[in-house]
Amino acid sequence: MATLTIDGRRVTADPEQTILEAARAAGIMDIPTLCWYPKLPIVGNCRICLVSVEGQGKLLPACATKVADGMVVQTESHAAVENRTGVLRLLLERYPGDHLVNGGRAQPRNEFEQYVVRYGVAPTPLAGRDLALRHGDERPGDPMIRHDMSTCILCTRCVRACEDIQVVGVLDVGQRGEHTEIIVGADGDPDKAGCTWCGECVRVCPTGAIFEVMPRERFAPERVRHPEKVVRSVCPYCGVGCQVDLHVADDKVVRVTSPDIELDTPNQGSTCVKGRFGYDFPQHRDRLTTPLIRKGWVKEAGRWKWRGPAGGERDRRGGPWRTIEGEGQAAKPAGPPRAVGKSVRELPLLERLDLDIRDRGATPEAWYEPFREATWEEAMELTAQELLRLKRERGGDALACFSSAKCSNEENYVIMRMFRGALGTNNIDHCTRLCHSTSVAAMQRALNTSAASGSMREVEHAADVIFIAGANTTESHPVFGAAIKRAHERGATLIVADPRRTELAARADVHLQMQPGTDVALFNAMLNHILAQGLEDREFTAARTHDFEKVRAAVRAMTPDVAAKITGVPAERIRRAAEIYARGPNTSTLWAMGLTQHANGTDLVTSLLNLMLACGMIGRWGAAMMPVRGQNNVQGASDVGAIPFVYTDYRSVKNPQIREEYARAWGVPPESLSLKEGLMVTEIVKEESGVRGMYIMGENPIISDPDIAHAEHWFRELEFLAVHDLFLTETARYADVVLPGSSFAEKTGTFVNTERRIQVAHQAVASPGAARSDLEILIELSNRLGLKTPHRTAEDVMREIVQVTPSWSGVTYDRLEGAGLQYPVPTADSPGTAFLFDQRFPTADGKGTFVPVEYAPPVELPDDEYPFVMNTGRQLYHWHTGTMTRRASGLDRREPTPIVEIHPADARALGVRDGDPVRLTSRRNTMVSSCRVSERVAPGQVFVPFHFREAAANLLTNPVLDPYAKMAELKCCAVRVEPAESAVLAD
Ligand code: SF4
Ligand code: SF4
Ligand code: FES
Repeated sequence: MATLTIDGRRVTADPEQTILEAARAAGIMDIPTLCWYPKLPIVGNCRICLVSVEGQGKLLPACATKVADGMVVQTESHAAVENRTGVLRLLLERYPGDHLVNGGRAQPRNEFEQYVVRYGVAPTPLAGRDLALRHGDERPGDPMIRHDMSTCILCTRCVRACEDIQVVGVLDVGQRGEHTEIIVGADGDPDKAGCTWCGECVRVCPTGAIFEVMPRERFAPERVRHPEKVVRSVCPYCGVGCQVDLHVADDKVVRVTSPDIELDTPNQGSTCVKGRFGYDFPQHRDRLTTPLIRKGWVKEAGRWKWRGPAGGERDRRGGPWRTIEGEGQAAKPAGPPRAVGKSVRELPLLERLDLDIRDRGATPEAWYEPFREATWEEAMELTAQELLRLKRERGGDALACFSSAKCSNEENYVIMRMFRGALGTNNIDHCTRLCHSTSVAAMQRALNTSAASGSMREVEHAADVIFIAGANTTESHPVFGAAIKRAHERGATLIVADPRRTELAARADVHLQMQPGTDVALFNAMLNHILAQGLEDREFTAARTHDFEKVRAAVRAMTPDVAAKITGVPAERIRRAAEIYARGPNTSTLWAMGLTQHANGTDLVTSLLNLMLACGMIGRWGAAMMPVRGQNNVQGASDVGAIPFVYTDYRSVKNPQIREEYARAWGVPPESLSLKEGLMVTEIVKEESGVRGMYIMGENPIISDPDIAHAEHWFRELEFLAVHDLFLTETARYADVVLPGSSFAEKTGTFVNTERRIQVAHQAVASPGAARSDLEILIELSNRLGLKTPHRTAEDVMREIVQVTPSWSGVTYDRLEGAGLQYPVPTADSPGTAFLFDQRFPTADGKGTFVPVEYAPPVELPDDEYPFVMNTGRQLYHWHTGTMTRRASGLDRREPTPIVEIHPADARALGVRDGDPVRLTSRRNTMVSSCRVSERVAPGQVFVPFHFREAAANLLTNPVLDPYAKMAELKCCAVRVEPAESAVLAD
């Protein structure tokens, strides 16, 4: 270690540290910096950080000079200050700083101007300058990020942040000499340059030359610069669980920023486009602000009676709207023609659409017609009456609830407590069924666990090999995707198994582009080759697993040559991937929906786990098992028991002793809690389920369920449906009662991210109108249903959760502040658990179990009639059923219309061009969308995002279910594609 003196203070520092780093570590934070930024490569070009070092003839850059033993540093010496004023004066020569004279000095607008004021530099009036202001790309018309390069000081932070943090490289330094400027690559088109609109450049720019548009359009500059408060929350989108700071003024979210890059948060300063710019949906004009009751309900003699049309389902639950099937089949105008994304410069092309851009994803006025506004008393009374009536008349199992992976742990806990404790049914499930249920089934079977073993940081910093199967991480989990790209840049080898050429697949060292649904053949062939080469980890399999020999036998016939014929991946590539995977030394294994959303998803994940266990790639830092979780709380909703088979901590509902424990905690007789496992999402929505009444919180199954036409029909036939949501969604329009709840910004609660990290989000704003907090609604309804629920706050609920959840015993709200805690947190002093299974698995004897699986072809294969394979998934700018993102103005403008990705060769053969309407027909239904010609899909395949009600992918998907997890076949169905001119059905 080196000992030096900085401004008279003795400081000890690592000799590899710079003066700036040593000073900051010692709490000396005011050495000015412009080009330097934490974690960015050092360029040392602005010279504002120059300091005096005793014995040196000239000033030295603090950001680029290493410390030395005995060094004596003065940060504000006369010479250093002189230099800074000189630097600032020079920079001001090209900066519009007229407002910084006189009174303006009290109101510096940004980091750069704060230095100008601090060092007392006066800008030369514009008229007296020799050089004109800079120009540069302005990203005209961009809904989220624009440039005003007249304020650029060429610090190049934005260039390095884009290149080194996001690993994109959109921005560059162009021209020379006085003409030097920051440019957007690809002739100024951010789309073509690969911009993801992440806003990293906005975050690091010290002058606001790169700025976000939305706050400026909606709030006065003063409000933006000085919000009333800044509240820490958790992003409402994916399972990365980025922490975000909500800036609040006038009880509205003005803008979203990310916590400091140096803080220990999952996102370390970054967010993706959704987290940073997708925050305005709670203020959308569609927001429900009062409860709604279907008009046929009237209260007579103290009871609610249905006096509306008693005829068929259409009368009972109808409304002036087209079904999703009808909308899907309706003719559509051509979409904006771009291969990937849409150029901002081309946005006026939206005029080709005959709909107002704000209305496509919004709730049509007519949807409100079957409803009347109601008081909370009416809405709660009717809901409680009907749930209790159905329980009395048909038994608790005639009821079911969908809770929500977007809601907090506390909300999910209270809703499952209500359904179990008050209504006596375990029919509680949520979107995990259509997400990672097959992963959970496979991991339970092999390792008796339900969550990731490791952490995102571990993958970024310690994995030598990253194997990604069926995960489009840079679009679905962009902040983790950027971390993976950084890992690749530092030298980790990247192997991607995906039918599509996603961004990560395109940059991978090995891309295994297999036919959809042939993953078992691929993974078994990799294992076959590993065994043939003797690359398995014999010590690990002998000491820590059972039944390895069974798997050895199961993969014997699946040689890489055999698998090549099945998967379409050359045998040599399979061998290469297998050897890299097995040699590690530390290989992390990641997967997501591409693997799980199949009717044999449990087997697909199992074959991947076999590969992982055979190579011993778990239980070491850098060898992580990571099912990458979809929604921001899909892990937590399952952890707190919002699934049909278990209470919190995955404790079985069938065990009478466990039941006793929950009965005691909830103050109910044990026999009132059912010992029968409940139904899963995909089992509930079936005629034979016997479910006649439902409570749905924050889910939209009419878009997310497979075979929508059937699902829509099923929901219309229910006796009672209550929907608790932010908007009158496609599902809510069929409800008897609609309860307006709270958005992420309006609640305090905890969320669990994909690496088991429990984080706390705080309420920033009030819910609009009469909308109420989700937790308050659930607590009141629980009490009305007769289940004593005395909790008043989310923290109260957490106190109860930890009592019945051994692996969360040490969790308190106070301890969750900051980075949160990765469970297990078994005691009050446990620091949490960053990675698991270094010694044993949580099975009876501590060993994992291999489960042999053999390849079986996908349920539906292409044939002459349906020659394409359709794959479904997410896009960068949208989220699930579009309920939130299609009402987020910036996101919606980036991706305003439904599309079908199709390979250029197939498009040519069909005679369709980018944007042309095409009709897709599967064995179940047909729908019209517009095509996006893209090499991301292989020939013979099409990709359909599932966010759009007007071209809902799930009209076509196959509802056949995985036998273990009841997951539907969402990723692989055979379709026919035709130009829509010959295909449009009657409107
Ligand atoms: S928004 Fe992100 S990807 Fe686009 S230029 Fe800025 S940093 Fe790069
Ligand atoms: S745009 Fe901002 S971050 Fe980029 S070089 Fe200019 S001042 Fe620096
Ligand atoms: S901050 Fe050190 S040279 Fe720019």
